[in-house]
Amino acid sequence: MMRILVTGASGQLGNELHRCFETMQAEIGPIPAAYADAVVDYTDAAELDITDRHAVAAFVKREGYDLIINCAGLTDVDGCERNSTLAFAVNADGAANLAEAAAHIGAKLVHVSTDYVFPGTDPGERTEDDATGPLSVYGRSKLEGEQRALAANPQTFVVRTAWLYGYVGKNFVKTMVRLGGSLDEVTVVDDQRGNPTSANDLAYEILKLALTDHYGIYHCTNEGTCSWADFATAIMEGAHLTCTVRRCTSAEYKATHPESADRPAFSSLANARLAATIGNEMRPWQEALANYLDTFAELGDINE
Ligand SMILES: NC(=O)c1ccc[n+]([C@@H]2O[C@H](COP(=O)([O-])OP(=O)(O)OC[C@H]3O[C@@H](n4cnc5c(N)ncnc54)[C@H](OP(=O)(O)O)[C@@H]3O)[C@@H](O)[C@H]2O)c1
Repeated sequence: MMRILVTGASGQLGNELHRCFETMQAEIGPIPAAYADAVVDYTDAAELDITDRHAVAAFVKREGYDLIINCAGLTDVDGCERNSTLAFAVNADGAANLAEAAAHIGAKLVHVSTDYVFPGTDPGERTEDDATGPLSVYGRSKLEGEQRALAANPQTFVVRTAWLYGYVGKNFVKTMVRLGGSLDEVTVVDDQRGNPTSANDLAYEILKLALTDHYGIYHCTNEGTCSWADFATAIMEGAHLTCTVRRCTSAEYKATHPESADRPAFSSLANARLAATIGNEMRPWQEALANYLDTFAELGDINE
C-alpha cells in the first residue's frame, strides 16, 4: 500500500490530483492501478507549512511516505516581485525542505516548476536541456527550488509546466469567462507565447511518471503554442461569449501596470523527456480547453 503526501492540496493542481485519486480517472485516461489502494494525505499551509524545515522533517518522518507531490507554491508572479523573501521561502526553501525530508526516509519527490525559469528570448520550444535564465523573482525562486530539490534527493522529478488552469482556484480561463460575461472588450498581451495547460492532464502525467525511477527534469504542458491573446480568443469562442479581444504588446501592458513582473516572450516548452521515457500523452491545448469549458459549463465555478 502506497503512502502519498500532496502538499499545497487546496490549489489548482492539488485539487486535480485529489479528483484523480478519488475517481482513478483523469480526463485523458485512467490512473494507473498501482494507486488503487494508495493512502493519500492532502495538506495545505495550515496543516503543513513547507517553509518550516523542522515541521516538514517531523511530519514526513512520522507518516513514512513513499511519494511526496509538492503542489505548494507562491504562484502570484507579480506578488513575488513585491515579496521576494516569501517567494524564496516557499518556492525555494519549501522545495528543499520537502526534498531533504523525503531523502531521509527514501521517498520519491515530485516537485512542480515553471516555464518562467527560462528567459524566453528564443522563439523555438525549450527542452529540458536548454539553459535557464529567469526574468522574475518568481522564476528565480522556482529555479532555486528545482536545483535544491534535485541536490537534496536523488529520487526527485522536477516537472515544469505552464499557464495552468484547473477547476478549483483562480486562473486565466476563469478570469476571461468572468470578464467576457460583463465586458464588450478585453485587452490582452499578444507578444508572450506559451502553452496553456490543463491541471487535470498534468496530474495524469505526474501520476504515471511517479511510478518510474526516471528521475530528473521534465517539461509537461499541453501541446501547441499560442499567445495570451490567442488563448483569450479561444476561451471567448469556446464559452460562446461575444466579448472582443483587443491585442496589446507587453510594453503597452507594462506602461499601465509598472509594478508587474517581466515575463518571457517565448516560453513554449517541448515535452521531450516525457516522450523519451513514459510517452507524451498531453493533448493539444485547444482540445483540453474545450473539455474544460464543457465541464465548467456543467459544474459552474466550483469556488463560487
Ligand atoms: N498557475 C500557473 O499558471 C502555473 C504555471 C507554471 C507552473 N506552476 C506551478 O505549478 C504548481 C501548482 O500551481 P497551482 O496553480 O496549482 O498553484 P495554486 O493554485 O496557487 O496553489 C498553490 C498552493 O500552495 C499553497 N501554499 C502557499 N504557501 C504555502 C506554504 N508555505 N506551505 C504549504 N502550502 C502553501 C497555497 O495555499 P494558500 O492558497 O493558502 O496560500 C495553495 O493552496 C506550483 O508549483 C506552481 O509554481 C503554476
